[in-house]
Amino acid sequence: MQLLTHEDPNVRYEALLCVQKLMVQKWEYLGKQLEKDTGLFRGHKTHPLESLLALREKYGSVYTFFMGSDPFVFIFDIEIAKRLFNKTSFCGRQSTLIGEQICSDGGNDIIFCDYGQSWHTLRNAFKLAVRKYQSCQHMPGTVKHVVDAIVGDMVAAEAPDGHPFDPKDYIESMFYCVVMSIAFGKMFTAKDPDYRELHSITDTFFRLGDKLALIEFVPILRLPLYKYVDKFRRNTDKYKTFIASRFAAHVDTYRSDQMRDFCDALIAAKLETIDGGNEEAANYLTDQNISLALWDVFVTATDDTQFAFNWMLLLLANCPAIQCRLRAEIADRIGHRMAAAEDLDDCHYANAFIAEALRYRNSNPLGVPHRTLADTDIDGLSIPANTTVVVHQFSILNDPKYWPDGHAFRPDRFLDSEGRYIQTRPEYYVPFGVGRRKCLGDRLAINELFLVLVAFLQSTRDYDIVLATGEGTADLTPDPQQVVLFCTPKPYEIVLKSRL
Ligand code: HEM
Repeated sequence: MQLLTHEDPNVRYEALLCVQKLMVQKWEYLGKQLEKDTGLFRGHKTHPLESLLALREKYGSVYTFFMGSDPFVFIFDIEIAKRLFNKTSFCGRQSTLIGEQICSDGGNDIIFCDYGQSWHTLRNAFKLAVRKYQSCQHMPGTVKHVVDAIVGDMVAAEAPDGHPFDPKDYIESMFYCVVMSIAFGKMFTAKDPDYRELHSITDTFFRLGDKLALIEFVPILRLPLYKYVDKFRRNTDKYKTFIASRFAAHVDTYRSDQMRDFCDALIAAKLETIDGGNEEAANYLTDQNISLALWDVFVTATDDTQFAFNWMLLLLANCPAIQCRLRAEIADRIGHRMAAAEDLDDCHYANAFIAEALRYRNSNPLGVPHRTLADTDIDGLSIPANTTVVVHQFSILNDPKYWPDGHAFRPDRFLDSEGRYIQTRPEYYVPFGVGRRKCLGDRLAINELFLVLVAFLQSTRDYDIVLATGEGTADLTPDPQQVVLFCTPKPYEIVLKSRL
């Protein structure tokens, strides 16, 4: 296996092409107004995921790609990905203006934090908080309440004359309201002023963040774009204050004999860690750091989950047989009552459907880029310290070498011959990443997706959810207009067709 290095003429050529493309696009964009800009890599017919995949054919399963002058090593092989990402020397994060400096106040959260004691302590406390929250059983009632309200509004507005509509906004408010309700203990719906405030902040956050991504690779652009950087910084501060003020109110009213929500679970995890004798942990588990870790959930986890559900809805509208099977299982095992977390063990097909949707169209397909902390040599691969390394999860999750018929959506691949969900995952099942920095919310995300799916299908039980363009017509290629780190479907329309 040969790693292309900075000196390789092919890499220099690809790099030149890449920068040229980006610069042409961006000079065009600087000439016009920012608000109309198409964003990093936009304007391409295919998602960058697919362009990177095409380069694999040319350069093999590990190659270097340059963004400006920064080398990015892409890995398409699970064996190599596991060996590298299990090493602490591959657990760093790059210092970036947007992620580290603006979003996480210098890397004081989990996602943007570089490898070290702070990351380690916060990650362990967060893991403990997830376990504590899950054991308090609030989630099923919270999800049911929120989904019933929002899907109720959707049915009232869209079902009566059976017109086609884009479900994206309903899905977005569903997932943000679920996360707000889980985090802060109060039930939020799309009409709530707090939700509206958050929506306006997140809208600006993603719109500007996407447009400014290029400044990380071409720093000189910070000068002409300083006004937008400043606007992004002010909006992000507003976002963090939105979370921090609610977290602070929880700290003031916390009681160890009750767990109202995820904020309380985080406080309990902090106290348990420090009281357990780890006094040094207090330096890292400050209220500011913990509220930034909570902010991580809003900023990345919510989108990973809502985009996953976006694919799930498209897939079940595209294939009525799958929808029918899911509805039948839910009617049989759960009926009209609220689903409980334990129902997941009984709903084998729903489990398989969720697992396959996360495999087939992974919403976070490149993970979060890692940084090497030391020079590394493995099997003739030599990767210098301070290099960005990315695992192309999408490729591993669709590779025919690992997944027979991998380009087909087939939930049955996760069922045994008796129709039971196969609990053990192969090592190449990587929707939540690989190695030591793997997602902390995988179980929580699957539980949430299950509870939302059940409540959604229960609330629409009098209808068939069909694609406006007809069965089997969905365009299942990722939307090239999406931010490069995410994989979402292209906009689609569904119809709620009454069965009564
Ligand atoms: C379908 C939903 C989700 C997907 C596909 C997903 C996927 C991922 C991936 C690929 C990473 C990057 C791993 C790496 O750096 O190598 C990640 C990191 C992370 N995820 Fe998730 N995630 C999801 C939901 C969630 C939820 C619900 C939570 C929280 C409750 C969460 C919390 C985190 C955190 C804190 C990290 C940072 C870990 C670190 O840097 O050490 N995720 N996730």
